[in-house]
Amino acid sequence: EKGGYEHFMLKEIYEQPRAIQDTYRGRLLRDEAIIKMAGVEDNMKKFLNADRIIIVACGTSWHAGLVAEYIFEEFSRIPVEVEYASEFRYRNPIITEKDIVIAISQSGETADTLAAVKLAKEKGAFVFGVCNVVGSSIARETHAGAYTHAGPEIGVASTKAFTTQITVLSLMALRLARAKGTMSSSVFRMYLQELELIPQKVEQLLSVNEHVKEISKKYLLSTNCLYLGRGYNFPVALEGALKLKEISYIHAEGYPAAEMKHGPIALIDDRMPVIVIATSKGHYEKVVSNIQEIKSRKGKIIAIVTEGDTTVKEIADHVIEIPDSEEAFSPLLTTIPLQLLSYHIAVMRNCNVDQPRNLAKSVTVE
Ligand code: F6R
Repeated sequence: EKGGYEHFMLKEIYEQPRAIQDTYRGRLLRDEAIIKMAGVEDNMKKFLNADRIIIVACGTSWHAGLVAEYIFEEFSRIPVEVEYASEFRYRNPIITEKDIVIAISQSGETADTLAAVKLAKEKGAFVFGVCNVVGSSIARETHAGAYTHAGPEIGVASTKAFTTQITVLSLMALRLARAKGTMSSSVFRMYLQELELIPQKVEQLLSVNEHVKEISKKYLLSTNCLYLGRGYNFPVALEGALKLKEISYIHAEGYPAAEMKHGPIALIDDRMPVIVIATSKGHYEKVVSNIQEIKSRKGKIIAIVTEGDTTVKEIADHVIEIPDSEEAFSPLLTTIPLQLLSYHIAVMRNCNVDQPRNLAKSVTVE
């Protein structure tokens, strides 16, 4: 059932090219230059009249929501707020009929997210679900939705759910961008083409596995790790840190790279690995100067760079190359080596990768 892989997590990491493709299949029609999503189309008026979108989710799904915030605002110019479902439901939030609430949940059973959906409905919002499990509670409670087609995710650490959630939300943002006129048809076509290329880029990228495994050997005894990213890749830094702590039990924190100087830089010494996402399109020069600051404090740098990078290669202790892509879709690539890094470190530390201590696949308690 693990298809020859040692763990479900590794199998699910490797399933991502297919999962992403399954998620956009039948929805992304490049030849016709359209995106077809019934849940969006049937409610287009509501989306076009929305004052804002509020995304509610937990854990990894919340990280996908943060990536979506950047994508929705950039593509469709709709204000987006992203909130932990647990906070949203307990703080008497201001919600009106002109709000759209998007609930993101792999399992569709997360108690806090389900409660947030019910609250938003009571307050009159239109509630849209992005779930993986068909017929799950959140899928049933929402007014409309779009499934990710990741297939069953068994490993407790979420991997393919994250990339397929970003895929669905990107499709939605693109569709709304066209409907609102915030994106020209030529740019829209370019993005369709770019999104369609992602599965093969992920496939190609998976060949870094052995290289990442080698790097992992050097850091398996670390007690702390810092993850840095900017823009679209700031949430990927958060997600990388979450993956490491939940399966390897190493303390890790994700930060927006520019926040480093406001505190976390104090942590850096020669025993601190810092994983930096430094792709060519996302504020590259700024991130390079962050890397120099880490280096001068003797931090160990593992950098995720775009193929062909030369500058970071000279400074970093290790580089992991990813194929070039549009910046907005780069999280679909940068997240892959971070999944592999936490996987290998956890395996080498003899941790139960698929069923980490104290965690459950769907958190149906509050
Ligand atoms: C992280 C992880 C959890 C879940 C969270 C939400 O790897 O597995 O943080 O992402 O419990 O779960 P869903 O998406 O099922 O609502």
